[in-house]
Amino acid sequence: MSTFEKLPRHVAIIMDGNGRWAKKHKLKVAMGHRKGTEALRSIIRESSDLGIEALSLYAFSTENWKREPQEVEALMGLILEFFSSEIDELDEKNVCIRILGDKAGLPEKQRQVLMEAEERTGKNTGLKLNIAINYGGRAEIAMAVRKICEKVQKGEMQPEDIDEGAVARHLYTHGLPDVDLLIRTSGEMRLSNFLLYQCAYAEFMFPAVLWPDFDLAAYHEALHAFGSRERRFGGR
Ligand code: FPP
Repeated sequence: MSTFEKLPRHVAIIMDGNGRWAKKHKLKVAMGHRKGTEALRSIIRESSDLGIEALSLYAFSTENWKREPQEVEALMGLILEFFSSEIDELDEKNVCIRILGDKAGLPEKQRQVLMEAEERTGKNTGLKLNIAINYGGRAEIAMAVRKICEKVQKGEMQPEDIDEGAVARHLYTHGLPDVDLLIRTSGEMRLSNFLLYQCAYAEFMFPAVLWPDFDLAAYHEALHAFGSRERRFGGR
């Protein structure tokens, strides 16, 4: 196993390129997502084995509903399949699952499975695995503002209590460290509304590899590159 000089506490990944991978292999897009789910499985396992504190994966954005119904259905099916087949192993590995996003907007079956996974693993103390489903970063910030306003209205909070930490405590990621390393595969260089607040000081990496081909060697390369970057957080 590789040794790392300095590991990020929180890794976030935009798993991009499943569609292009499928096209390249003359397969249906759903097969790209299926292959992408295999990559996701091994990256989760490795993150847990390396002792990374938190891993956040962008599985389905609020904008992804605009895709063809068959593709949306395939993704929803994979989400169901993934949680049903992996939950025992993840629980055994002490992984704590949290869903980032609006679960109320999901089909009933998916909502149930995701809530069960969160409930079952909620007290686990290992890798904090966050899966963003029906997630949008701006919507998340708007939700946090709404929650804070409600508290102020009820007298539970004062306007002067509202600082950066207070906002962070009302996001889906409350209690987690900020993102240290953001990886987006497939060479695209955009944040696409992912963890906007939490990525304020993240290091960004954009490997050219398509997500289904993102293997452990590619992950280790990104982790090593992170270790050699100098982070100043605005200082000198
Ligand atoms: C982006 O590739 C990827 C997605 C929109 C979905 C990511 C989902 C998975 C990897 C699997 C399902 C998730 C779980 C939790 C089981 P793209 O299709 O936009 O790629 P393209 O830009 O090449 O078309």
